[in-house]
Amino acid sequence: MPAPSDNLEAVLPVNLVLIGFMGSGKSSIGRLLATKLGFHLLDTDALVVESAGMQITDIFEWKGEEGFREYETKALTCLVDRKVRGAVVATGGGIVTREANLPLLHELGFVVQLTASEEVIFERVSRNKARPLLHTPNPRETISELLARRSPLYEAAADYTLDTSIKSHAQAAEEIIAEARRRYPTPL
Ligand code: S3P
Repeated sequence: MPAPSDNLEAVLPVNLVLIGFMGSGKSSIGRLLATKLGFHLLDTDALVVESAGMQITDIFEWKGEEGFREYETKALTCLVDRKVRGAVVATGGGIVTREANLPLLHELGFVVQLTASEEVIFERVSRNKARPLLHTPNPRETISELLARRSPLYEAAADYTLDTSIKSHAQAAEEIIAEARRRYPTPL
């Protein structure tokens, strides 16, 4: 496992920004990417929880989805303003629903969309009840509707897309790093 590098340009001269639906693997693959590259892992959900002083389910309950989206855009803006480098930025699944977030994502770095089949997503998200948008009578149907609405938005925002349905986290991380190195060669 590499130690955090002092010379981030030598590792990869760009942040990695992970977008994609809930359960597509952003957090787990993000953690592994950060370890492999010696990058920091930043997570917009965690930044939102920190700045709101509340858990995500409580933000949705007290401030509604729109209130949550405000916090999310502020978190992204803050990362851009801080000019973060050497980071893997994992984002919440709804980040692409606000058009204003798209230039911020691209300003942050190489935007990688993670996808997975509907079945795999359902299976992965069923293990965790902390996602308020799936607190519905029929979460499977909700996933299907949200996926249909959001897929074109992820596509439009992504520089690169990787299907994680049948890949190990390690395999996915290697492929993302290889693609990023191809597109952003380290300056000699
Ligand atoms: C959301 C996804 C969640 C979190 C919030 C809303 C969404 O993040 O931001 O519950 O709108 O898809 P994950 O994609 O990390 O689960």
